[in-house]
Amino acid sequence: MKGYAEWINSRNIEGNVAECGVFRGDSAKFINRYFPNRKLYLCDTFEGFDYGDLQYEKGENNQSFNQSKFADQSFFAETGVDFVMSKMIYPEKVVIKKGYFPESVLDVKDRFCFVNLDMDLYIPMLNGLRFFGDKMVYNGCILLHDYFSDVFTGVRQAVDMFEQERGINIIKTPIGDGCSMALIRN
Ligand SMILES: C[S@@+](CC[C@H](N)C(=O)[O-])C[C@H]1O[C@@H](n2cnc3c(N)ncnc32)[C@H](O)[C@@H]1O
Repeated sequence: MKGYAEWINSRNIEGNVAECGVFRGDSAKFINRYFPNRKLYLCDTFEGFDYGDLQYEKGENNQSFNQSKFADQSFFAETGVDFVMSKMIYPEKVVIKKGYFPESVLDVKDRFCFVNLDMDLYIPMLNGLRFFGDKMVYNGCILLHDYFSDVFTGVRQAVDMFEQERGINIIKTPIGDGCSMALIRN
């Protein structure tokens, strides 16, 4: 992320940054550090998965997900806004969007140069693509966590559905961490 942020910042490319799926802020703190001059939207329930999203995922008969520890609604509940904010070195740049995504961001009209989508499940990841897809600046990057995961297979299904809805074919660029895919706006 550091190299990409330097590249974006050195070219004066416009746009703010966001993370959907923050949990304890361990990736958000790096986004905040490497994009010091941009507004950072942090979107999460800060209470774990939404019940409806989770039920949908289970109903998809996703065996590997159902057998994983993540199938418990409370798995990501051990967090909080104050805890996450304590990790930010530029807290004045952070806008917290606490609540169910995408309802929590319906007032956001910004353009974005970097978005990390890390919500694990089919429904929120599809909504993430729908919401940010049209808000990315030229050369902007959406990082899709878990695209190559064998457990969170809903992520790949969300990309398939997004491609189908838009009639597009996204070039799937692995970033080298074994699970994430970068989607660059051209
Ligand atoms: C894998 S964790 C995020 C990990 C984080 N990016 C990190 O680096 O540690 C997934 C997060 O997505 C959030 N989440 C999932 N679906 C959501 C939704 N529909 N609305 C808001 N937050 C959601 C959960 O609350 C959880 O904190």
